[in-house]
Amino acid sequence: MAIIASPIQPKPLSLPFCILYGSQTRGIDEGREYYERGAASSLGARWVLGEHELMLRQCGPTIPSLQIGSLKVALPIIQGGMGVGVSRSGLAAAVARAEGIGVIASVGLGAITKGLDRDFVSANQEVLREEISRARAASDGAIGVNVMSAVSDSAVLIETAVESGADLLLLGAGLPRLPSSVARRVKEIPTRFVVIVSSLRAMQIIFQLWSRHYATVPDAVVVEGPLAGGHLGFRREQLSDPAHSLEVLLPPIVAEAARMETVHQKSIPVIAAGGIFTGSDIHRMFSLGAQGVQMGTRFAATVESDASDEFKQVYVRSSKDDIIIIDSPVGLPGRAIRNQFTDDIALGLKRPFVCPFRCLTRCDPQTAPYCIASALVKAMQGDMAHGFAFAGANAWRVDRLLTVQELVTSLVDEFNECVAAEGVWDGPARSPVPETV
Ligand SMILES: Cc1cc2nc3c(=O)[nH]c(=O)nc-3n(C[C@H](O)[C@H](O)[C@H](O)COP(=O)(O)O)c2cc1C
Repeated sequence: MAIIASPIQPKPLSLPFCILYGSQTRGIDEGREYYERGAASSLGARWVLGEHELMLRQCGPTIPSLQIGSLKVALPIIQGGMGVGVSRSGLAAAVARAEGIGVIASVGLGAITKGLDRDFVSANQEVLREEISRARAASDGAIGVNVMSAVSDSAVLIETAVESGADLLLLGAGLPRLPSSVARRVKEIPTRFVVIVSSLRAMQIIFQLWSRHYATVPDAVVVEGPLAGGHLGFRREQLSDPAHSLEVLLPPIVAEAARMETVHQKSIPVIAAGGIFTGSDIHRMFSLGAQGVQMGTRFAATVESDASDEFKQVYVRSSKDDIIIIDSPVGLPGRAIRNQFTDDIALGLKRPFVCPFRCLTRCDPQTAPYCIASALVKAMQGDMAHGFAFAGANAWRVDRLLTVQELVTSLVDEFNECVAAEGVWDGPARSPVPETV
């Protein structure tokens, strides 16, 4: 709908703002009175005249909310799970307080706080419970847990997260299966399940498997494109192939999710991930049908991120040339920030290690050139001589650390600027028209 006049000078775009515009039900005078009484303006409302009559169409940030099952968050941003130890309760709670979804990465938590000599499985389980309860104590918002299928204790971690009342489980890095104790109750338990995929084919295989074995399908899909940080679900040569870009991957997955919604009679939002850096990126993903985004790199470089300051400064100092692809002992490519450790490995130098617990099913300690779990823990703790930082393709664009709230505010402001530049925002391509108030 065209905006034809603006009787009161609009405030500069900032969060939150309202768009008041045409409707059959509320007259111009009533709309103006509402604004002038302060009800809308106290929220930082903008007054915009529509073609016909006026109505308060949307109040608060224009960025649409995200709903996964019965879980609804005002900010459609999931903070990507970041192991080992980069996203624990501190970061997850800060994102949850900012009304997004905060995610604890479950991989190797026990090794960080309990040391490598403890029973690996029970130490991880114990610390995951503690982290979920800390995040709950520090926020009333939505808390998820990321579990990588590639880790050998994934079943125990899924059970623990469900028992500890996580709102969401995000399952990535391999074919996500549920332990039978969880699969039996999957429709009754409050925890919702999100799978992370890097292709339409992977999504289809997972949905078929879940439908056959669990009589249900996942509640949402994260599509992680080739610009993401950490382990990547692509072959090396696919990473720079435009045919595998997130923009190309997303629309067919959105269409498949819509088809699955009809078949399974439930909503299945699609969430875009990998290289999303600004509010304008979020806006672009929404125009392609995403209903949310998952972001890792930007949250790794926040004040509240659970990594050491040394780790965060590696992001701040990095330049474009420092962002490299490594061959991880997991058998997948990974994106990281180059340093002496990665240079040595690239030259074929080995760092032999004794593996106390086989944390990754596909890592063979006899042949692996180094222990990736140890390298990631050391880096997270700031010991860059013995490890390296995983990071997304845009990490070099980080020039300073922000608080989570500063980051979120800037993302929403940028998103709103895109909406304003376009005129009127009708929500993500697939969502229903927002309700009027
Ligand atoms: C430091 C770091 C660690 C990560 N660890 C994990 C992990 O443990 N499990 C996982 O599924 N994804 C992991 N990821 C991927 C993120 O969850 C997220 O999907 C990805 O970083 C999104 O891309 P972006 O960093 O460009 O925003 C990691 C990413 C980073 C940067």
